[in-house]
Amino acid sequence: MAKMGTSSRVAAAIVVVLGIVLSLAVVCNGGKTSSFVRKVEKAVDMPLDSDVFKVPPGYNAPQQVHITQGDQLGKAVIVSWVTVEEPGSNTVLYWSAYSKKQKSEGKVTTYKFYNYTSGYIHHTTIRNLKFNTKYYYVVGIGHTERQFWFITPPEVGPDVPYTFGLIGDLGQSFDSNKTLTHYELNPQKGQAVLFVGDLSYADIHPNHDNVKWDTWGRFTERSVAYQPWIWTAGNHEIDFAPELGETKPFKPYTHRYHVPYKASQSTAPFWYSVKRASAYIIVLSSYSAYGKYTPQNQWLGKELPKVNRSETPWLIVLMHSPWYNSYNYHYMEGETMRVMYETWFVKYKVDVVFAGHVHAYERTERISNVAYNIVNGICIPVKDQSAPVYITIGDGGNLEGLATNMTEPQPAYSAYREASFGHATFDIKNRTHAYYGWHRNQDGYAVTADSMWFFNRYYHPVDDSTSAQ
Ligand SMILES: [Fe+2]
Repeated sequence: MAKMGTSSRVAAAIVVVLGIVLSLAVVCNGGKTSSFVRKVEKAVDMPLDSDVFKVPPGYNAPQQVHITQGDQLGKAVIVSWVTVEEPGSNTVLYWSAYSKKQKSEGKVTTYKFYNYTSGYIHHTTIRNLKFNTKYYYVVGIGHTERQFWFITPPEVGPDVPYTFGLIGDLGQSFDSNKTLTHYELNPQKGQAVLFVGDLSYADIHPNHDNVKWDTWGRFTERSVAYQPWIWTAGNHEIDFAPELGETKPFKPYTHRYHVPYKASQSTAPFWYSVKRASAYIIVLSSYSAYGKYTPQNQWLGKELPKVNRSETPWLIVLMHSPWYNSYNYHYMEGETMRVMYETWFVKYKVDVVFAGHVHAYERTERISNVAYNIVNGICIPVKDQSAPVYITIGDGGNLEGLATNMTEPQPAYSAYREASFGHATFDIKNRTHAYYGWHRNQDGYAVTADSMWFFNRYYHPVDDSTSAQ
């Protein structure tokens, strides 16, 4: 090795010291790393004979019933279910206290995945519903009928209160069941779930055992048959398995979970938007191309200017892979998408971004990192009141277990982080205020372990940080 001269050694030492000072300036004075320590136990899948997976009785009884928003405004609902013995009827019979019984007709599909053949998967869209109305609906007509209900959202408007639940990376372990129970019994009463991806985790079982998609559908029915879950695709939805001859990504997911992507002029079900009450929700795909000139990029570029904040003040973005994540899991996986889109999020003043993927909880302050231009070297997250708050809520409870290992020290922008399973609610009060609360599964149903009052970025863009930095 060549010897360094004294002057170059001094210069090198100065660079090292400067580097340390600079990096300390960036990473010190973080927010709160919770002292709550969860008992370390492995997440275990519930056995196939668990009551939550029970097949409903009766010939060809509909199972895995689930609903999601069926248009952009909330006047339509997509009803989906699976029959096993034979296709049966695609009809949904529905009515409200103020209307006669009506019928809507849908379609049935099946798919094969390696050695698995699906049941008959039905999707029927009910349209022209009245806002803010309770509807009853029946599926399984002609064989075993099952009845459910849902409540349509209020008409879109700037001061319409609405409560969203937030669940991610749910899976089907005993912990997943606790998360869902806590969500259902939370006195905040979520009216629709924003689901940030990774549904069944079928793909981590031998041959991507698609029976696990069926059990997950039966497990979640108790919530999603009664209120819409807005779907985001995660990496466990990709199901790309060339070793099994399965080379079409997202095959089980797209057959089972339909979304109203065409209503927002999207060309694929992985990125789309819906309006609900006073919120505009943009769903993005971490696992579809998002670079310049790609369909998702073109769509988002046209979509953001369309958001009319005087109609829907709250701009919420869902994605699977987080951009700001200080856990040592999936570290920087969201970085390339952040580089592509963060400037837009700041420009259009996104209120909050919810992501999953990391099996833990984290909330950031409002920060951005958009000054870098290759030559200026400015690549530090800084406080930015035009930027969203980033929340990682991948703590649904799946089999893969918790992410417990965090980068230290906690970055300055990270307001709160904790490795516990749980869920959250985002409770919009009016055009200026929303109350956000995160709930860990070990607490009582009404307890919030982390909370924040959100001030709307369009109507009330004052500093709403929760730390004193
Ligand atoms: Fe994931």
